[in-house]
Amino acid sequence: MNKIQKLIKGLGLLFKKPRLINLIMDSEFHWKKYLKKHHNNLLQLPTADISQLIENSSELNHYTFLGGGSLPTDIALLKSLSKKISNCSYFEIGTWRGESVINVSETAKECFTLNLSKDDILAEGLPEKYADLHGILSKERDNVTHLFGNTLNYDFSALGKKFDLIFIDGNHKYEFVKNDTEKVFSHLVHKDSIVVWHDYAANPEKTRYDVLAGILDGLSKEKQANLYHVSNSLCAIYYPKGLESKSIDFPILPKKLFKVIIQSKEI
Ligand SMILES: C[S@@+](CC[C@H](N)C(=O)[O-])C[C@H]1O[C@@H](n2cnc3c(N)ncnc32)[C@H](O)[C@@H]1O
Repeated sequence: MNKIQKLIKGLGLLFKKPRLINLIMDSEFHWKKYLKKHHNNLLQLPTADISQLIENSSELNHYTFLGGGSLPTDIALLKSLSKKISNCSYFEIGTWRGESVINVSETAKECFTLNLSKDDILAEGLPEKYADLHGILSKERDNVTHLFGNTLNYDFSALGKKFDLIFIDGNHKYEFVKNDTEKVFSHLVHKDSIVVWHDYAANPEKTRYDVLAGILDGLSKEKQANLYHVSNSLCAIYYPKGLESKSIDFPILPKKLFKVIIQSKEI
């Protein structure tokens, strides 16, 4: 099929299903152009080596190796950061099975995790079985409070509380990332709070341009100076004290190896 035939076929499909326009609006091509126009062609954040942030040896006791969760390095990052902060108060957007929060609950004093309610999830046409899996790992944990709501209209100010470590891992579409970033920085941070975004990267070597655009548009220019990609992870981090970082040319020649021991048990 040549380009003209593809164009005619594409327009025919678009005519039949106008919603397909979202594929173009969500495409990497669109968001790359957006970053070029609105953010001086910033296509990746400076990379901070993860070894500055995680403990030399870090263990995860609750990891499912199933879909929709975070990488082991993402969770080890959160766990190590919360361990370094005395009496850490952790807030998370996006509970899903409760995998990130249950791991952090071992090192933080208290954890709050916000997710769409079961009714919200069902209203999106998602199966009841999926809705019921939310919080399955974390719901019995004493120091984890489960909150329900949609970040687009949730009243964060009613919490009346600031948090030391915040993980933004809800909906990863641009509008939500921007909204969640603005709300977190308006209501939940104090001057030393650390904020981590999940899915800044599609894999540790590939930026998600839509998520990067959402982070940048949700954050003041001044705060953008303390934004980094954490190497070997899918995370971006706002680290107010600053981190050593460099611009990385992908693909990477590996200079570091992690040791991974896999053990499993039935639950
Ligand atoms: C990627 S999962 C979170 C994974 C979890 N943090 C982990 O690492 O195990 C995203 C979760 O965000 C929730 N979510 C999506 N949009 C949301 C919104 N607008 N407000 C609150 N929660 C949302 C989804 O229901 C889903 O459970």
